[in-house]
Amino acid sequence: MSTATAAYDGIRPGTAAKHAFFSAVVWLCIGASFGFFTSLRIAWPDLLNGKEVMGPLASAFAFGRVRPMHITLVIFGWISMAFVAAMYYMTPALCNCRLWSEKLGLWNIWLWNVGLVVAAISLLVGANSGREYQELIWPVDIYVLVFILGFAAVNTFNTVLQRRTQGMYITIWFFLGALVMIWMTYFIGAIPDLFPVTGLNEAYMVWWHAHNVLGLWITPVSAAIAYYVIPKVTGNVLYSHKVGHLHFWTIVAFYSTPGAHHLMGAPLPEWMKSFASVSGVMILIPALAFITNMVLTVQGKWQMFSDNVSIQFALTGTLMAVPLNFQGAFQQTRAINWYIHGTHWIVAHAHFALLGFSTFIEIGATYYAIAKLFQRKIYSQSLATTHYWLTTVGFIGFWTTLTLAGLIQASGKVYNTTFIDVVYATHPYMVGRSLFGLTIVLGQWIFLYNLYKTATAGEPVTEKNPPATVYYT
Ligand code: HEM
Repeated sequence: MSTATAAYDGIRPGTAAKHAFFSAVVWLCIGASFGFFTSLRIAWPDLLNGKEVMGPLASAFAFGRVRPMHITLVIFGWISMAFVAAMYYMTPALCNCRLWSEKLGLWNIWLWNVGLVVAAISLLVGANSGREYQELIWPVDIYVLVFILGFAAVNTFNTVLQRRTQGMYITIWFFLGALVMIWMTYFIGAIPDLFPVTGLNEAYMVWWHAHNVLGLWITPVSAAIAYYVIPKVTGNVLYSHKVGHLHFWTIVAFYSTPGAHHLMGAPLPEWMKSFASVSGVMILIPALAFITNMVLTVQGKWQMFSDNVSIQFALTGTLMAVPLNFQGAFQQTRAINWYIHGTHWIVAHAHFALLGFSTFIEIGATYYAIAKLFQRKIYSQSLATTHYWLTTVGFIGFWTTLTLAGLIQASGKVYNTTFIDVVYATHPYMVGRSLFGLTIVLGQWIFLYNLYKTATAGEPVTEKNPPATVYYT
């Protein structure tokens, strides 16, 4: 093992993780609220529109600007920052050592927060690369590569190098693999900013990048977190490390290739589309390996699904991976893709992955880690339960209304219905999506309040006052 131990930098262990978790949850609330605002613009396009009502802010809050803002804040501000928070908390815990540098961790998170403010302003003033999921312009995207993903990787890798354990638990495999893969993915996504790549080549690179942000970053790190939280909270040993390894390597093999399934209608070579579609179905192998491993790990502890909020969120997110991956495999086959491409169905699927699967697992981990880091009980179990139900009911309603609206749009395409008739037909569903979206947003602000109260006024955990649940195993 290496001797790369950093000198103790005088900052309390866990400080970087605390800053990261709280910052991420603040971005979750802001990002989801922007999503709600975006949804209002779809349901009532004339609402808050025009210079008379919005004054100089009219163009800043136009649909085309708030939509990328929502996506950037939830993916970079919430999902990715909560991932790094989990890395800063779980890597030292699994390696039986300190985080390599708390100071670097704090720089990482605060430069990240500054970067997000810059990114938000640049998107609102209309500085947008025009490439979905890679909207940030040069040099903001390079800043992300160096100060955000680069710093996080240096700190996590060095922590693993100074570990005091023999092997590496599966969570660490996924963390390290994903940090390398996202760096490569993001770099390739930024290439059209640096070199003159245009046309179909650019389109393919954009969707290769977008698909792999999900496949090589969001999916593996969410799984890594579930591999930590579910055994830890239930007190059960992980069912199988071998199945975990199968999961890891099949993600690397099959998830990196189906980028072209986002471009089934484009004039790409036919073999490329067929290859993408077949490897898109192969994604079911890692998905089923993961879910089987997790479900068998929970054996004998299913009652925790009803009385432990970390398990409620983490397990709900994990179980969502079943319908999510079947839906993904189904919708990227040629015939189905032709039908639903470009409809609300796709947006429903995107929220299934990022909200239903990843966000649920991350929220479970955040409750667990905040209670541990502050050595306090969660301030209010009833607020946590309210948060769970608002998010779950909100998500199910959100997904259902959008999926139905997508099917209406698709049939409109088949029957050559006029555009405006389809808009009228889907309007009630858009209103429904806004209402369910509001439910989700309310849940996240309650979450932030509960975490803040936990940190400042939660009941301290002492030997005489152990937690009611097994938060502290
Ligand atoms: C953590 C929570 C959330 C995540 C990770 C998330 C993620 C995303 C993603 C990835 C997209 C792009 C979809 C695509 O291009 O197909 C998107 C779009 C959108 N999201 Fe969210 N979202 C979240 C919460 C919300 C909430 C609470 C609302 C409230 C209604 C919302 C409303 C929207 C709207 C209106 C769009 C634009 C859809 C369109 O262009 O038709 N999102 N979101």
